[in-house]
Amino acid sequence: MTKAIRFSETGGPDVLTLEDIPQPEPGPGQIRVSNRAIGLNYIEIYFRSGVYPVPSLPSGLGTEGAGVVDAIGADVTDFQVGDRVAYAQAPLGSYAEQHVLPAEKAIGIPDDVDFETAAATMLKGLTVQYLLRQTYPVKAGETILFHAAAGGVGLIACQWAKALGVKLIGTVSGPEKAKLAMDHGAWATINYKEENIVERVRELTNGDMVPVVYDSVGKDTWETSLDCLQKRGLMVSFGNTTGPVSGVNIGILNQKGSLFVTRPSLAGYADTRPRFEAMCGELFEMLSSGAIKADINQRFPLAEVAKAHEALASGQTTGSTVLLP
Ligand SMILES: NC(=O)c1ccc[n+]([C@@H]2O[C@H](COP(=O)([O-])OP(=O)(O)OC[C@H]3O[C@@H](n4cnc5c(N)ncnc54)[C@H](OP(=O)(O)O)[C@@H]3O)[C@@H](O)[C@H]2O)c1
Repeated sequence: MTKAIRFSETGGPDVLTLEDIPQPEPGPGQIRVSNRAIGLNYIEIYFRSGVYPVPSLPSGLGTEGAGVVDAIGADVTDFQVGDRVAYAQAPLGSYAEQHVLPAEKAIGIPDDVDFETAAATMLKGLTVQYLLRQTYPVKAGETILFHAAAGGVGLIACQWAKALGVKLIGTVSGPEKAKLAMDHGAWATINYKEENIVERVRELTNGDMVPVVYDSVGKDTWETSLDCLQKRGLMVSFGNTTGPVSGVNIGILNQKGSLFVTRPSLAGYADTRPRFEAMCGELFEMLSSGAIKADINQRFPLAEVAKAHEALASGQTTGSTVLLP
């Protein structure tokens, strides 16, 4: 038997229970990973609460982790038992001592990257890779707006933008988070609880506004973000923290300056093995060079996952959070 978090109905954090389940066996093309650390991501709140559908219930939760391969299925040639690996887009169920996943979703981790760092940065770091390097490839000297800058994705974005010579304006909910974002390379912050985001962006850019906004907040910031853009600017809406953006009349893009909008996901960018490996390569380079450090500011035992979800959903966390099996 092995321990795993399961839920049989969608709802609040208390639907998550730690259960003893039979040890899963890898099938053809699959590996089993004995997790050493598990990444916590906002998307799991969407699955748990029913915002995103799960394939079936009861279900496991979590798609990210890092650990040691402890069994391999038939036809697996790239990995051996004992390999140190990380993964970010596995089938739901990484909130567990052991997880079975397609080998193609895993990547070997360099010796200088520890398990907690890998678990904390795979999904969030690959997300920042595609946002800053692919969706809108930022250029040195540009000023950009990035919401939730002191969060898990946000603190990695602050560091990556700084390394690229980009001036990142980050939104945050208070002075401590503002300091954290600045310490991680943000060029300026806006405390959205006290300041008007559009006016502050206007001041900070001397009226130019920004060519791109990265918005994971969703419903609450949709129009504000559009108002921060230059003519023909790009709105990158990549999350739903306050609820999904829906019911949009696309005429608004015309009214606000012939704008572009995209709603990307990691799955749409890391969609082939070569693309996934190239993105991981860049991320590991940033980690190994020290340009990006994982900020694991919360650690929870796997059994206390409900507390971890409460903290993340209520904005109490900063940087990344890992679960420890
Ligand atoms: N599309 C993709 O490929 C992709 C991949 C990864 C993550 N994401 C999205 O990126 C976002 C960040 O993910 P994360 O795991 O790194 O989480 P996170 O940023 O660590 O946590 C969410 C943050 O959102 C901010 N926030 C703003 N309004 C909020 C509200 N009403 N309630 C709660 N928090 C609020 C909070 O920071 P303040 O206190 O400073 O406001 C909070 O810390 C999520 O929306 C996630 O779904 C998308």
